[in-house]
Amino acid sequence: ADPRIPRIASSIRVIPNFPKPGVMFQDITTLLLDHKAFKDAIDMFVERYRDKGITVVAGIEARGFIFGGPIALAIGAKFVPMRKPNKLPGEVISEEYSLEYGTDRMEMHVGAVEPEDRALIIDDLIATGGTLCAAIRLLERVGADVVECACVIELPELKGREKLGDRPLFVLVEAA
Ligand code: PRP
Ligand code: HPA
Repeated sequence: ADPRIPRIASSIRVIPNFPKPGVMFQDITTLLLDHKAFKDAIDMFVERYRDKGITVVAGIEARGFIFGGPIALAIGAKFVPMRKPNKLPGEVISEEYSLEYGTDRMEMHVGAVEPEDRALIIDDLIATGGTLCAAIRLLERVGADVVECACVIELPELKGREKLGDRPLFVLVEAA
């Protein structure tokens, strides 16, 4: 077992009943306050992905941007933001995904990712997996190969991993 994992896990704050009653919110802002924990998290992703031929890191708004940028720089890949609707100024392609109530949409700039690209998708957390699935669909629509999805935290009870089909998911911490 990697000794960095417990420090990363204990740096994540859990806030009960946010954003609504019954939810135990995994708050990564406290991980960001702990320089060593933040660096260890980035380093663990970089060690895993530096020699895998990744050409693009796709970071999911908003907290996927915080981890995705440093990873992309360290492994020598481009960074592409996967954004909420109507935020990107250029031509976009989009995918809808379901939330607990209703749907949302994820957008990506046309031309940012090419068919030859090998993609790593980064987010802070996987819950139901709907968000990562939308990102996978966007990348695969433009012909990219999704090598892996990676998150800091997984909520295994929600079985989001099963939604990803055969794309591998790597996480640092499992939360209850
Ligand atoms: C959270 C989280 C993931 C997503 C996971 O973001 O950061 O992106 O939910 O949920 P899922 O696996 O059930 O799809 P949120 O949608 O709250 O958006 P935000 O980053 O803008 O706060
Ligand atoms: N933290 C952050 N994002 C989330 C969570 C959480 O606990 N649950 C669903 N999306």
